[in-house]
Amino acid sequence: MDRYVVAGNPVSHSLSPEIHARFAASLGEQIEYGRLLVPEGGFDLHLARFFEQGGCGANVTLPFKVDAFRFAADASARAKRAGAANFLALRAGRIECDNTDGAGLVADLSRNLGLRLAGARILLLGAGGAARGVIAPLLAQSPGSLVIANRTVARAGALARLFGDLGPVEACALDAVGPRAFDIVINATSTSTKGEALALGPGIIGEGGFAYDMAYGACAKPFVAAALAAGARASDGLGMLVEQAAESYFLWRGGRPETAALLAQLRARFA
Ligand code: ATR
Repeated sequence: MDRYVVAGNPVSHSLSPEIHARFAASLGEQIEYGRLLVPEGGFDLHLARFFEQGGCGANVTLPFKVDAFRFAADASARAKRAGAANFLALRAGRIECDNTDGAGLVADLSRNLGLRLAGARILLLGAGGAARGVIAPLLAQSPGSLVIANRTVARAGALARLFGDLGPVEACALDAVGPRAFDIVINATSTSTKGEALALGPGIIGEGGFAYDMAYGACAKPFVAAALAAGARASDGLGMLVEQAAESYFLWRGGRPETAALLAQLRARFA
């Protein structure tokens, strides 16, 4: 049976095994999808062993997305742009990497949440690995503007320069974002996962806007609740998780799983 894993640290709470088992069942396929807890500094060793022992593919989560990119022999264009990968596949004896996070985010925003990205004024909060992985796919949707705001403004500036050839992207310090009207505000900082408060000025998220946290479940609740209280619509990143998994499944196996019913069930569980 084809074997896959989600590799990370921690991985015990990952929903990926359940999501991929459901995808396989819905497509009438049989796969084995487990968890691989990788010790710090042990990515290459553990993943090399997994593939040597017959593994077909891996999803890679925190904190190893840059390691995954470096580990692979070949990288897709979008993984190269991101400098990070959440997807590994063994093909014809070579390990390839890709980054399906951005595709997952775009699919969730546009298909599941019905947001129009073309022409939208988007504010992306954060300039770390999570932000970096979604910039090119967001710019590919032709937004009106993409402002990257980060606590350390130099990191936002570096990303704006790196992706400037792909669309209208600019950088800003987190505490200098004015109450200009944004259609969509995406939280790609690590504040939700770390349980820290995100200090955002007044009026940045408000009526008519949509706030999206790339984290999901309980840890995204403070950001989502604050946005709702400010009169915006809001969502956590559960749909992004499911959609990046669907994109991974498709890349590995060629079948595109339906996501709507599974997402609704998971959402009910996390409500
Ligand atoms: P990830 O891979 O999850 O993006 P990361 O590369 O460590 O993790 O990046 C974390 C991001 O969250 C950064 O943009 C960081 O801002 P700095 O570049 O200034 O460090 C942001 N971040 C982390 N804690 C934050 C906080 N308390 N308030 C605002 N931004 C924060």
